[in-house]
Amino acid sequence: MAGVSQMPFRVLAFRMGAGLCPTELISAQGLMRSSPRTLRYLRYDPEVERPYSLQLFGGEPEAMARAAAVAKQHGAQVIDINMGCPVRKVTKSGAGSALLCDPLRAARIVTEVRSATGLPVTAKIRSGWDSAQKSYLEVALALEEAGLAALAVHPRTRAQGYSGSADWSVITELKRRLRMPVIGNGDVRSPLDARRMLEATGCDAVMIGRAALGNPWIFRELLGGAPPTPKERCELVLEHFRRHLEHGAVERLAVRSFRKHLGWYSHGLRGAASFRSEANRLERAAEVEAAARRFFAQAAGEPSPDAEREVDYRAAFG
Ligand SMILES: Cc1cc2nc3c(=O)[nH]c(=O)nc-3n(C[C@H](O)[C@H](O)[C@H](O)COP(=O)(O)O)c2cc1C
Repeated sequence: MAGVSQMPFRVLAFRMGAGLCPTELISAQGLMRSSPRTLRYLRYDPEVERPYSLQLFGGEPEAMARAAAVAKQHGAQVIDINMGCPVRKVTKSGAGSALLCDPLRAARIVTEVRSATGLPVTAKIRSGWDSAQKSYLEVALALEEAGLAALAVHPRTRAQGYSGSADWSVITELKRRLRMPVIGNGDVRSPLDARRMLEATGCDAVMIGRAALGNPWIFRELLGGAPPTPKERCELVLEHFRRHLEHGAVERLAVRSFRKHLGWYSHGLRGAASFRSEANRLERAAEVEAAARRFFAQAAGEPSPDAEREVDYRAAFG
């Protein structure tokens, strides 16, 4: 997830039992130029991130192949191609969900990336561009033909954004028509939802997005483990913060970019709103750490009022 799935978050997800946790989407153009900003996205923990899956976005097969070769040099073990991002900055260059309008080009990207790297190539799609163009089946069959290793599907169209609900029948249909593994995604908020998706669609794996914000324990719970104790939550928030500081270059920026995580971790806990407004004013790491320790050490859940039911994922975009 853009703005979220950096190394510190991925490490926690893996440790909690996630089987795969790709990087946020990385620009093929930036990678080809090896721009310092893009190279910062490539840092990973080889001990924990197994396999290290790197998500690339781009619209040109040759550029994607060259970028994937650079990704491989930097340790990538799986290349995941973004074919779902709805953001105009991405789609206007023919990347992200624009590829759903051009199955042949999407398939050529897979072919070129495979032959440039020899790595397994996966892709993430939406159900189509809009309700008039639900191209998921045509795209998926073309990608399978091109040798895709697995397909993740978020069954909303680009035009839907995050509105409405994910149409799981798309996952069912893809699972029936494809030989490759299908990873179902969309609106899984709990282990119960994940079981429902597996049973209803027959998909091979479940991908979790928003429900993991501030809740990496969801992966452990999916495997039958317990939700966190308050002490465990407190320790993990502090560990995430320390890793986030180490990962970021500048203290002030890292403190600011961690605010969204504090918002998500505190979601649904008593006193969360005043903790968030306090944390949003702090600029120094030591102050944030002290405030987080104070809050999370005693934090207990409260019956959530309506406003607290959904996490605000848009905070990820700054
Ligand atoms: C903040 C945020 C950032 C995202 N960034 C990416 C991304 O970089 N690549 C991608 O394939 N999907 C991205 N997604 C989409 C999710 O992977 C997922 O498809 C979507 O959130 C639906 O799943 P969910 O209901 O479990 O959240 C992002 C979603 C959110 C909320």
